[in-house]
Amino acid sequence: SDLKESKVLIGAIDQGTSSTRFLVFSKGGKIVASAQMEHTQIFMPGHAGWHEHDPLEIWNNTKACIAAVFKILQKKGFNVNSTGDGGAKAISLAAIGITNQRETTIAWNKATGKPYYNAIVWDDTRTTSIAFHLAAGNINKLRSRTGLPLASYFAGTKVKWLLDNIEELQKDLANPVTRDQVAFGTVDSWLVFQLTGAQASSPGVANVGGIFVTDVTNASRWLFMDLKSQKWDKDLVDMVCASHDLPVETALPMICPSSHVYGMCNGQCGVDELYQVPIAAILGDQQAALFGQTAFLPGEAKNTYGTGLFLMMNTGTEAVDSSHGLLTTIAYQIGTTGSVNYALEGSVSHSGSTIQWLRDQLGIIANASESETLAETTPDNEGLYMVPAFSGLFAPYWRSDARACIVGMTASHHKGHLCRAAIEATAYQTKDIFDAITADSCVSLRTLKVDGGGTHNDLLMQFQADIIGVPVIKPVVMETTSIGAAFAAGLAVGVWEGLDELRKLWSASKFCEPKMDPFTREKYCTEWQKAVTKSLGWID
Ligand code: G3P
Repeated sequence: SDLKESKVLIGAIDQGTSSTRFLVFSKGGKIVASAQMEHTQIFMPGHAGWHEHDPLEIWNNTKACIAAVFKILQKKGFNVNSTGDGGAKAISLAAIGITNQRETTIAWNKATGKPYYNAIVWDDTRTTSIAFHLAAGNINKLRSRTGLPLASYFAGTKVKWLLDNIEELQKDLANPVTRDQVAFGTVDSWLVFQLTGAQASSPGVANVGGIFVTDVTNASRWLFMDLKSQKWDKDLVDMVCASHDLPVETALPMICPSSHVYGMCNGQCGVDELYQVPIAAILGDQQAALFGQTAFLPGEAKNTYGTGLFLMMNTGTEAVDSSHGLLTTIAYQIGTTGSVNYALEGSVSHSGSTIQWLRDQLGIIANASESETLAETTPDNEGLYMVPAFSGLFAPYWRSDARACIVGMTASHHKGHLCRAAIEATAYQTKDIFDAITADSCVSLRTLKVDGGGTHNDLLMQFQADIIGVPVIKPVVMETTSIGAAFAAGLAVGVWEGLDELRKLWSASKFCEPKMDPFTREKYCTEWQKAVTKSLGWID
């Protein structure tokens, strides 16, 4: 039946903070094959708050996932078109879309394909002082032009750090011969450059000659783009990069729509099976999840429980300013003539990564699901709260001086309480953003569509519904991020005709109804707020 219903296949590369995935969907919106690989999280001893990824490892994992999926497809009986001459029966992907961890920044040389440095991950805090000095007491200084507060989270601060610190990069920028070869990009741009490029002299290392593009959603996360014109703004670039003169035309990728044919995969890029397959979508992962949840109308929203936590609401063609600590960001743009849709977003740095911390740093659980089992050993938190401000507090607080804390401990608390507090923190952080969205937009969400790994935790989902007081809804296809990228790619090449057709592919699988009485909810939320105050002002 796969073969029958899957004459048209659409691929999605989902390059996230913890892992890389490649999924292939049918036109009916079903997953036909998928593969996933985790990559190394590089934390440096002596550099608290630094977090890096190896761009080459990410590219190699992307290739490996694609190869693994094509093997699965072959096993399922698909005649995979690997060289472009697979014959009449060969099946080739109609298009691929890319969705990616946003803000994570890579600098590389376009002529050699070599990164100058590791990717600096979005939650890395090394640029806190850059953001602090830029703000000079007003973190909202660039908000009206960029939609963003001044925080280490955004790509522009990472560009400034690379310019300040990486000697080879400085040398290449100073030399008129190599100046135009310097590229800064988010992971989407890096992957498109690789996929459309060809293997360089040292095979298997990195490609050269690819195209250098990004989409409006990713570009809206740098502090460099004017939100209304969707163009790089030299003034903003100069302000953030201070003394450095960055050649905007060559060093920054061309900004394109999110659903758009950017180019074809090169047969020499290292993945034969993608020969001449169009790359037809790029969306930041949270925007892709919004698209995958088919939240196309103003007032429609989703909450994704991944490494971090991201609640995003479509505001239509209007860029709504936030006065409650949310980001104004771009949701998507379909084609060059399509209007730009905006969103309000509440970004939280630590959700699933708090559970990873319990596993990897404290060693009190062996895997994520054990945190739920342990949390169930106690009926409630018994006064114990954890504020996971490991990278400061993001939305709606934007306090880089905050640090994580556990408060309310007594000697009777055990690891079950700790697990419970870690899980509940995710629900409270969602509640903070949920309230900010209502305050900024005057829209009261009557349900919350959810997705991401955290939704497998039933305790979290029930507690979430209890704390926000509205039903939480899971879709049938939980891979909303990947399917969002596939939807946008399919739209660009005519697999689907329009948004209405995509809407029909979405359906709900599970509802969690709120059960908690309002007094208990109020008491918990007040205690959470008190815990948050304890995390503030911890570092200078
Ligand atoms: O803004 C960062 C975000 O895009 C990361 O998403 O799913 O990798 O935690 P995720």
